[in-house]
Amino acid sequence: MLCRAVCGFLLLLKILYGRVLFVLLGGTPGDGLIGPIAAPALIAPDLMITGRGVWLLSAWMCALLLALGYPIGILSGRTFFRHGSVASGLVLGDSCPQRVGRRLSSPADEGWQMLYEQVRLGKKAARRTVEWGQRHVVRPVWWGNLRRREPFSDWYGSERGRPVDRLYIDGFIERHRADLIGHVMEIKNPHYVDLYARAEKVTVVDIDRANPNATLYADLDEVGSLPAGVFDAAIVTNTLQYLEPQPALANLWQSLAPGGVLLLAAPTLARVDAEIPDIDYLRFTPRGLRREFVKAGIPAVVEGYGNILASLCTLYGLSIQDVSVKELDRVDPRFPITVCARAVKTAS
Ligand SMILES: C[S@@+](CC[C@H](N)C(=O)[O-])C[C@H]1O[C@@H](n2cnc3c(N)ncnc32)[C@H](O)[C@@H]1O
Repeated sequence: MLCRAVCGFLLLLKILYGRVLFVLLGGTPGDGLIGPIAAPALIAPDLMITGRGVWLLSAWMCALLLALGYPIGILSGRTFFRHGSVASGLVLGDSCPQRVGRRLSSPADEGWQMLYEQVRLGKKAARRTVEWGQRHVVRPVWWGNLRRREPFSDWYGSERGRPVDRLYIDGFIERHRADLIGHVMEIKNPHYVDLYARAEKVTVVDIDRANPNATLYADLDEVGSLPAGVFDAAIVTNTLQYLEPQPALANLWQSLAPGGVLLLAAPTLARVDAEIPDIDYLRFTPRGLRREFVKAGIPAVVEGYGNILASLCTLYGLSIQDVSVKELDRVDPRFPITVCARAVKTAS
């Protein structure tokens, strides 16, 4: 009864999501035990029924599906378990190909369309299909509400919590809080100064004269627009993408006092700026930013932060609170979203 309820529920999901439904039959005797346990866990790949009464249970489902115009697949249990995916298949039939054709509309569905077409060619082709399936048919994606054209937030997820890039930037600045002493400069507002600095003097820089927090209006791209040799620390977060990197780095560097430190963070992956899109020019990979520092003759330690989940969150406008610090904390060099650099101007 429970099995029927689970299967019915899964079937409903499949119908709602308009996908081909595969029913996993047979397998080894052991499947009988794991079937009912595994079925709910395997919603994403497909529906799996094993064990006693499987024929009876699948018969009514197959009949219902055929009536609804869905092709039915029989899959081999061994391949299924080995690859954790819908690996080999034989489509038994379909009552309404046009309907299936309509349902298989997105590029992601092309694989299914191909499988379906191949099996329709006959027995020999079906064998090829099995081979083809083993190589190409992969576990379908369970998109949920991520299949969308609009982000969840237009403001980096700030209505939902803290934007994900801030996990890395906040951590970077906090780790180097000991650098933030004496005369400290920050762009736009004294956010990190207030949080972490033991500053004797603070200068807030902006090009935007409408910014009431700024105490020095300057164009960072103009070398010499910042006073020379005065700052003990400069915090330049999420700003380099609006600038000409070489003059801006030269300007910042000449503004540091001997022994001064530049803490800089820039986006590697980010949507086009929501507030000032007209001047949002650049993104920096860790290597790209390192190269800018080398070109400018500034010795810097450059590191990228992020992973694939952080990448998705940043594009979707999801916040740290939508996932967890633990999930975001694991850095994957393939998917940085933020790059941070620390450069110390030697005293000599
Ligand atoms: C997105 S905000 C980032 C500010 C802050 N540091 C943070 O982490 O949120 C970028 C700031 O850089 C300023 N900005 C853009 N181009 C500039 C330039 N050429 N010189 C000085 N400031 C500039 C903008 O006006 C804006 O206040």
